[in-house]
Amino acid sequence: MSSVVIVGAQWGDEGKGKVVDRYAARSQNVVRFQGGNNAGHTLVVGGETTVLHLMPSGVLNPGVRSVIGNGVVIDLEVLVREVRNCMERGLIDAARGTKTFAVSDRAHLILPYLSRLDRARESVAGAGKIGTTGRGIGPAYEDKVGRRGLRVCDLLDPQRFRDLARHRFEAVDRLLADLGGQTYTGDEIEALIDHQLELAEVIRPFICDTSKLLFEARSSGENILFEGAQGTLLDVDLGTYPYVTSSNCIAGAVCTGAGVGPTQIDGVVGICKAYTTRVGEGPFPTELHDSLGEELRAKGGEFGATTGRPRRCGWLDLVALRASVRANGLTGLALTKMDVLDGLDELKVCTAYRHHGETLHAPPARSDVMAELEPVYESVDGWGSQTVRGHNSFDQMPQAAQRYVRRIEEFVGIPVCLLSVGPDREETMEISDPFLGGSA
Ligand code: GDP
Ligand code: IMO
Ligand code: MG
Repeated sequence: MSSVVIVGAQWGDEGKGKVVDRYAARSQNVVRFQGGNNAGHTLVVGGETTVLHLMPSGVLNPGVRSVIGNGVVIDLEVLVREVRNCMERGLIDAARGTKTFAVSDRAHLILPYLSRLDRARESVAGAGKIGTTGRGIGPAYEDKVGRRGLRVCDLLDPQRFRDLARHRFEAVDRLLADLGGQTYTGDEIEALIDHQLELAEVIRPFICDTSKLLFEARSSGENILFEGAQGTLLDVDLGTYPYVTSSNCIAGAVCTGAGVGPTQIDGVVGICKAYTTRVGEGPFPTELHDSLGEELRAKGGEFGATTGRPRRCGWLDLVALRASVRANGLTGLALTKMDVLDGLDELKVCTAYRHHGETLHAPPARSDVMAELEPVYESVDGWGSQTVRGHNSFDQMPQAAQRYVRRIEEFVGIPVCLLSVGPDREETMEISDPFLGGSA
């Protein structure tokens, strides 16, 4: 029995979905523990693309149980769409209930007024906007911490849910009115509450205490794969605050977001692109504002899987990556999108920052300072016209690609356990197996 955590080591979209799908074949459970449908995780299997926002990315693997932990914030409309789709494809089964899919009774709900509030706030924020996904993530976590949130367990008592939801709709309506946003009529509120209760019926067979379920699964010898959303630099505590999401996305969040103790975690793999991207506002020291940035965006298909927004692109920031290794206690790195660097003769990696004559070796706390940083680059040979695609082992890769990987390992101090050289599940080279804690 082994429990492995996958987290984003950058600003999200590192390829977590692809790697989780790949690793899921050796785990009986795959668990989301934070975030919500701000996430967009892409899986490509046999040429077919699936994008998941809430359903854990192991779901395409037969026999794997998908679990949504208490730390996730759930938009029922989105969850039910994904659940229905998975049921139609025979991937989860209401008759077998929590053996195939489980959703925490303690997870908080994103009722429609919360996404409307998120968008209304962003639209009046002007230069101060965060560039959120508009999915109500921030307001949902505010309600949770403010102890006024509605949870999955509340859906099981319709009359009580109706009263609580009506009260919250009306309170948020006053905030929406202040922001000049669209408010709800009484009839709309009742119809939306009815709709939530209808949606709840679809997930009813899957609702349970997932902390208990996972404890029992581990006790009976099952493996567990935890799937992070977003990335370390978007973590509300350790990211580029305030340009972050509203949850903790580091590995430690597994404990609070899935109700699993720290002694139950055996390995933590950070997913990292061979370069860097970011969606939304906020500092990004290695961002490329030139044609090379555009080239990476085009070659890497760097458009958001949730909002379709173009992703900002830049060189690999090893200083930020080393901070991620530290904050997550990473035991291995999965390096993705190496193929996007095919064709380049020279690559750069950022090894320090300069700020007003001072050299920094870790990201600063203040995002305004981070925005002023000048990256110190080290130049590394690219592999030009050679390609990283189509190789079966690390040793067969172009020499310059091998040196690039070795330089990253050396700088951040942990080994690369997986290399991804294309979007498909099969376009992957495994160097060691995190479930075995050793060689693949
Ligand atoms: P996630 O949010 O971390 O799961 O990542 P996304 O799915 O939002 O974005 C990653 C994108 O890169 C998706 O379109 C993947 O299909 C794609 N992808 C993942 N790994 C690779 C890779 O090694 N090479 C290429 N070219 N694309 C990849
Ligand atoms: P995955 O799991 C990339 C970004 C948004 C915005 C900030 C806050 O696919 O890697 P929010 O809606 O969470 O309040 O937005 O966080 N963001 C992501 N960026 N990948 C994600 O998820 C993201 N989820 C949120 O763009 O800058
Ligand atoms: Mg994504």
